[in-house]
Amino acid sequence: MAIPTPSRKALPLEVRGSASQPLGMSATQFLRDYWQKRPLLIRNAFPDFVAPIEPDDLAGLACEEGVLARLIVHDEKRDRWTVKTGPFDEAQFGKTPKRDWTLLVQDVDKWDPDVAALLDTFAFLPSWRVDDVMISYAEDGGGVGAHVDQYDVFLLQGLGQRHWAISDDPDAPLDFRDDVELKQLKTFEPTHEWLLEPGDMLYLPPGVPHDGVAVGNCMTLSVGMRAPSQAELTGDLADFLAERMPDELRYTDPDLAPAKRAGEIDAAALNRVRQALPFAAALDRDLLADWFGRFITRYRSAQEPVAPPKPTTLAALEKALDGGAGVTRHPYARVAWVRGRKDATLFVSGHAYACPVDLAERLAAERDVAFEHPPGAVEKALLLALVNDGMVAVRKGRRR
Ligand code: SIN
Ligand code: CO
Repeated sequence: MAIPTPSRKALPLEVRGSASQPLGMSATQFLRDYWQKRPLLIRNAFPDFVAPIEPDDLAGLACEEGVLARLIVHDEKRDRWTVKTGPFDEAQFGKTPKRDWTLLVQDVDKWDPDVAALLDTFAFLPSWRVDDVMISYAEDGGGVGAHVDQYDVFLLQGLGQRHWAISDDPDAPLDFRDDVELKQLKTFEPTHEWLLEPGDMLYLPPGVPHDGVAVGNCMTLSVGMRAPSQAELTGDLADFLAERMPDELRYTDPDLAPAKRAGEIDAAALNRVRQALPFAAALDRDLLADWFGRFITRYRSAQEPVAPPKPTTLAALEKALDGGAGVTRHPYARVAWVRGRKDATLFVSGHAYACPVDLAERLAAERDVAFEHPPGAVEKALLLALVNDGMVAVRKGRRR
């Protein structure tokens, strides 16, 4: 029988913890109702909490070779942020301004057994999901600005107070400021704000905009999770499988019929690609074709065409084509194409271009392409791209 989940409204955003229940509820209930789903503020998650590390020791650690540390200073008047990465020398801490700065040190659990012991509280999570304990020390006004994290995080207040603002609006805009390297949000409109005291803990699932600002001297411990992106999983799996596959297992086509249209990657070819990639069987046809076309036109090429030093203008190309010029394929340009819903996608040496079917076929079949009539606007735009990528060159000639 499925466990009935309480409606979103019935779930409190704020609970009180205790020594026996640091999450303010059982781990089962937390995982069911909050984990990866919604934020939770746990007051008194760690009763009488005393931070396992002193700010001075954290600063000392930030001076060690091999420790990942950042010093972030906010110039509030001009809203400028400065980020310096460690290791630092002690003198640098003497030069910090009176306020609006923070030091962040990652992986403190790897260096300090008392900090590592904190992770015992999170043993209800698979240990391989836990990334690290990052600790920040900030002076009044210090913080990293409003941002989102791609992983779950438990923000435990260690020393002093921190003002936290979050937005649980699912439609909150997530555009980044392009003037700051901290991936801060362009706009942030909080829906909830709290002042956290030592021992209070804020849980945030991935993607929740948040901003923590120190109120006086403040230390915050962030227990962060790891969640590999699908891109990382795919890349690593592909490498892993590739290392184990014998060279004799290849794309094969003993059923090949004579090619009808030069260069076409037809449905039968795409099916053979699927057979050669059983783990990619579920891939959408267009995505598979888009990848295969790029791959096969780049595969085993000793050289690749390069863009000419000076790009051609559309006007110059039009003049040449209207005067009877054609194009010549770069000798190393490999061409293939796949039929789309309307036009084709033309692949040349790993690049993809939208292209009318007839022109794609001609570019695949003919080294030198002459035009009986001046090509139309779509063709000209494509030829301009091909010329400027170095795939074809304009071949002077007179129309017959
Ligand atoms: C901090 O401790 O200053 C930042 C932690 C976070 O927002 O992820
Ligand atoms: Co964060």
